[in-house]
Amino acid sequence: MSVQIDHLLNETRHFPPTPEFAAQSVATPELYTDAAADRLGFWANQARELLHWHKPFTKTLDWTNPPFAKWFEDGELNVAYNCLDRHVLAGNGDRVALYWEGEPGETRAITYAELTAEVKRAANVLTKLGVTAGDRVAVYLPMIPEAIVAMLAIARVGAVHSVIFGGFSPESISARIDDADAVLVITADGGYRKGKVSALKPAVDEALSSGESYVRNVLVVKRTGQDVDWNERDLWWHEELASVDAEHEAQPFAAENPLFILYTSGTTGKPKGILHTTGGYLTQAAFTHKNVFDLRPETDVYWCTADIGWITGHSYVTYGPLANGATQVLYEGTPDTPHPGRWWELIEKYKVTILYTAPTAIRTFMKLGRQIPQKFDLSSLRVLGSVGEPINPEAWMWYREVIGGNKAPVVDTWWQTETGGIMISALPGLTTTKPGAAQVPIPGVSIDVLDDDGKHVGHGNGGLLVVTEPWPGMLRGIWGDPERFKETYWDKFGNKALYFAGDGARLDEEGDIWLLGRVDDVMNVSGHRLSTAEIESSLVAHPMTAEAAVVGASDEVTGQAVVAFVIIKFSHLDDTSHADIAATLRAHVAQQIGAIARPKHIFIVKELPKTRSGKIMRRLLRDVAEGREIGDVTTLADTMVMQSISNTMK
Ligand code: WT7
Repeated sequence: MSVQIDHLLNETRHFPPTPEFAAQSVATPELYTDAAADRLGFWANQARELLHWHKPFTKTLDWTNPPFAKWFEDGELNVAYNCLDRHVLAGNGDRVALYWEGEPGETRAITYAELTAEVKRAANVLTKLGVTAGDRVAVYLPMIPEAIVAMLAIARVGAVHSVIFGGFSPESISARIDDADAVLVITADGGYRKGKVSALKPAVDEALSSGESYVRNVLVVKRTGQDVDWNERDLWWHEELASVDAEHEAQPFAAENPLFILYTSGTTGKPKGILHTTGGYLTQAAFTHKNVFDLRPETDVYWCTADIGWITGHSYVTYGPLANGATQVLYEGTPDTPHPGRWWELIEKYKVTILYTAPTAIRTFMKLGRQIPQKFDLSSLRVLGSVGEPINPEAWMWYREVIGGNKAPVVDTWWQTETGGIMISALPGLTTTKPGAAQVPIPGVSIDVLDDDGKHVGHGNGGLLVVTEPWPGMLRGIWGDPERFKETYWDKFGNKALYFAGDGARLDEEGDIWLLGRVDDVMNVSGHRLSTAEIESSLVAHPMTAEAAVVGASDEVTGQAVVAFVIIKFSHLDDTSHADIAATLRAHVAQQIGAIARPKHIFIVKELPKTRSGKIMRRLLRDVAEGREIGDVTTLADTMVMQSISNTMK
């Protein structure tokens, strides 16, 4: 990390907003002054301005029992009504909500009126299938409009969605279904990825094969038309939608009614079900989407490239943009199919004005070379966003110059599954941006950087990133595990009202925030969070493995890469080559967790570096994996271990 800090300290480039951009900025300086003068009053105003409340709230925040917060508690709203019906009622039914593009090239332009009609039918289907408010519904779909329809229909009836990323394995699906006691799964026959048909339903079938879950039905969207096995519980989405009434009146629900659970990796093996509720979450999603991206819903075409299986897809594909009545692009496939200019082609075709993507994608395009994007007309772009991991200044500059034509501001947005919405970001019409810095908390959010003792570090210093006041989009808990919720986020400084994010950060001389990566055993690979412990337990679950240690090693393109060190049981070492063992284990992890967790490298070693109390010293393994000189080994039980590991790797 010290290498990175030195590097960032030398970054002195500044980009003030152009006078033209500043003059028309959606966000005004008053946002900061209003929020500073009365933070809760500010959020109450935003909630009233940005959302429709069936029953207005009178209380803004209850924080009498931290860390359990209640926002807008006595208010009532319907999330789907806010994202759909009210736009139609306001006369914007003909506005395109989604420009969908399938990977093989099919297109659909879906207006707000059409999306509303579709969600109404889907809501009626859910009711027909016995789904009621509070029930959990799992969603395992590709990036097709039905994914958004499913989420909104579930929200519309007051139920709770748990979206599972389409790359996850049957085991991961079944763990999520069981943890939340889901009663229904919505999936598709398959989807298109990298020019191929990839099956989805078989994974759900396998996940449910033990027959022990509460799942009563599986609703299947026909996307690819491939053959699928059919069980008694299965129903076709299109047949069900055709069988119900077209009308559906959205009922209001309390602001603290759960909206969704989204599983994310923590420091232990078991993924955490992060719980979000409605009123506060939607307020922050809408507020940030409007102000961070300088959104003009009448004229902008917005595109966030995230999959709906991640929080970015929840807040900045489904909820933020639709609550704001925006027009957006939704793309099913991968960036390089059928050719490496596919994204730029889509931007040219739909005249995209706002692009929100991840540093790992930007670095991949950098490697391919600027001549690819330069073949396309990207002049419509006026705001560029980045999210998921720290963006290195080189990638930031490339994004600004090559994609943004040196005129579109780049905003680096820091947040987490847990925060629900963007927490730290420049506002493009107000902030002078610096390559590589997330910079300033958004209005109404209070951030600090503290040392281990909980003291403010002061400008020019590094420490731990902390949120010091509750915020509307904050997680309300970990599903079914209030103790883990408290321990993970609120116990770090002995002050149960300080939220510990798990990230390191530095304040520069002007007080701007630079993110430095995770300080715990969580890795960030291509902007996706992976737990070292989860991959380790998958590795040791294989009969060949005796012990395993996993680290995230720096990687030029993916930010970090999964590198595993494993001890193989003696009996398996004779007859199999190291390369075969490594290949078997890599495939095993991909099959158990999902392809994103597949280790890039597996090194077979005889011992692992451990302290006298038996704790694996991952820091040393990271040194080896990154080809650095090995750090202090004096606390190791056996100081020769690192020598032996280094020898193995030569
Ligand atoms: C972790 C959260 C937020 C949506 C995508 C990831 C890292 C995220 C940034 C950024 C530096 C970032 C942090 C954070 N992260 N955005 N702009 N600069 N780091 O959500 O899977 O919940 O991961 O991603 O380490 O803790 P997530």
